[in-house]
Amino acid sequence: MAELGRIILTEQQIQSRVRDLGNEITRDYKNTPFVAIGILKGAFLFLGDLAKQIDTEMCFDFMATSSYGRGTTTSGEVRIIKDLDDSIEGRHVLVVEDIIDTGLTLNYLLEVLRKRGPASLKVCCLLDKPSRRQVPVQIDYVGFEIPDVFVVGYGLDCAEVYRNLPYIASLKT
Ligand code: IMP
Repeated sequence: MAELGRIILTEQQIQSRVRDLGNEITRDYKNTPFVAIGILKGAFLFLGDLAKQIDTEMCFDFMATSSYGRGTTTSGEVRIIKDLDDSIEGRHVLVVEDIIDTGLTLNYLLEVLRKRGPASLKVCCLLDKPSRRQVPVQIDYVGFEIPDVFVVGYGLDCAEVYRNLPYIASLKT
């Protein structure tokens, strides 16, 4: 198992930013019931905490994607391994992601979701690594921009380990 490096974001920093994002989303969706789509597995802790800070009508659905393989880089090929339970046609949709790296996963997902005819489609991600982008993607709510380091914790993994950490850390190289 890879060893942890330094802490990039503390639990307090994360929770404070999640509160702000929740307030923003509450304001923007005040009279607009929406469905939050959590992208598994990485977004499970983030969406759980974020949802507790949202004070307006919402419901949940989940999708799981896999980028083939267990390394620390995306291969570019995206596979849906769990699809939504319900239709999103005519509904307001907020996709909740853990991290946008190359943008390939999100770009593919948004294409798939757009074809299903949502009333609106927005994106909220906890972490953004803009320096790694290969395709442009519009992100409506960003928790933190981070540099080009592989991070784990708060839902993010390395070979399925470390998702349970309440903070975000780098790995030792
Ligand atoms: P993208 O398609 O390159 O934007 O990658 C998105 C997915 O790759 C994320 O949803 C994560 O599952 C994974 N990923 C990208 N960077 C990291 C990282 O630093 N730590 C853990 N997972 C990552």
